[in-house]
Amino acid sequence: MLLSLFKTRSRTECEVRLHDGTRFRVRPGETLLDAALAAGLDAPYNCRVGACRTCRCEVVEGKANSLVDRAYVLEPHDLQRGAYLACQTQPLSDLVLRWEMGHRPESGITAKVSGQAQLTPRVWRVSLITARALQASPGQYVGVRVPQGENPAWLRPYSIVSLAPHLDGSLLHLDVARHAGGRMSTWLTSADAIGQAVQLAGPFGDCVAGSDAAPLAAAGAGSGIGAACGALMESHARQPSRPTLLLAYGAQLQDLYGADALAASARRHGARHLSLAWAEHAPTAASGTARGRAPFGLDAIGAWAASWSHTPSQATHDARVLLYGPSGFVDACLPVLHDMGFGAERIRFDRYQSPSEETT
Ligand SMILES: Cc1cc2nc3c(=O)[nH]c(=O)nc-3n(C[C@H](O)[C@H](O)[C@H](O)COP(=O)(O)OP(=O)(O)OC[C@H]3O[C@@H](n4cnc5c(N)ncnc54)[C@H](O)[C@@H]3O)c2cc1C
Ligand code: FES
Repeated sequence: MLLSLFKTRSRTECEVRLHDGTRFRVRPGETLLDAALAAGLDAPYNCRVGACRTCRCEVVEGKANSLVDRAYVLEPHDLQRGAYLACQTQPLSDLVLRWEMGHRPESGITAKVSGQAQLTPRVWRVSLITARALQASPGQYVGVRVPQGENPAWLRPYSIVSLAPHLDGSLLHLDVARHAGGRMSTWLTSADAIGQAVQLAGPFGDCVAGSDAAPLAAAGAGSGIGAACGALMESHARQPSRPTLLLAYGAQLQDLYGADALAASARRHGARHLSLAWAEHAPTAASGTARGRAPFGLDAIGAWAASWSHTPSQATHDARVLLYGPSGFVDACLPVLHDMGFGAERIRFDRYQSPSEETT
């Protein structure tokens, strides 16, 4: 284990040269994005946690280490071209990169916080009304930016649970878990936020139901249950005959929510093939999930996929899986799903990583 850590981290400073000749240095443990920004470059980024792909660059020469499995976050043709996400990459040697500088301005849209409803002891559903219509799908995420006077604005991504037309704009629902000491989550779930204006960037991400007919499983932990339900509800509205499975994880029974609303949506749209599975104690990377062992009910996905396949050995090649939740949860699920036969092209996920938790 220690050996592999040393292998994947340069112990000396590395030099990066961009295709236009610009040079900057990367200290041990720093990501390419952090180093580029520290050097005053106008590097493009948005989420800084490997979700939006805005910071995509290509390694032309040298060796780099990705902090996330690139097969899950980049397309096969991008991988062939040596693509990496700069916010999740550390150099292992001096590098030559093809990376277009120029921070692309976000397509900002003004919204007002219009309501909050507490769903569980930790999760609130926050309603926002946007000033103009937002084109997005449940399961995508928006960057919520709150101006802080002279100080830098807070910017945090939140998954869209649902959205509907409202006057000239959209009514948007986000499920927000309140973290002790968390600036944005505490503010968004407090009475102070009601009636306040925020800026939204996006939508971003592709962790959505999509339009194919393959059986669709969505697993959510904590506030990720909302996005999982939202994606499945969209699938019911679009393709009622598509088999769907919700797998919801909470730390305790009272953290589980969403099943009633999801079942009601299935009835409303005539979607008869909805399955529900629940588990307390979400798997986490820290809980020591052994490879090859399906923990905490994840095997329900394999069994369910097989029940919808004409050729059970091909089941996991047919079904698609969406994952939403804390990074430890997603990181525990990915290798298990992979061992169960789900290829990277069948899995989409959003890791609810806080910028303050980033590994650098
Ligand atoms: C693509 C994406 C989608 C997301 N969608 C959602 C969503 O739908 N709902 C949602 O609730 N969150 C979501 N998040 C996480 C969200 O963006 C914030 O990171 C989270 O709300 C914490 O922000 P904060 O300002 O409250 O905490 P910060 O002020 O950034 O952090 C302060 C402290 O709070 C604690 N903390 C912060 N985050 C966590 C955490 N995840 N686990 C444990 N402790 C933490 C830590 O002690 C941290 O040091 C998403 C993140 C990403 C990247
Ligand atoms: S900034 Fe790197 S993926 Fe979003």
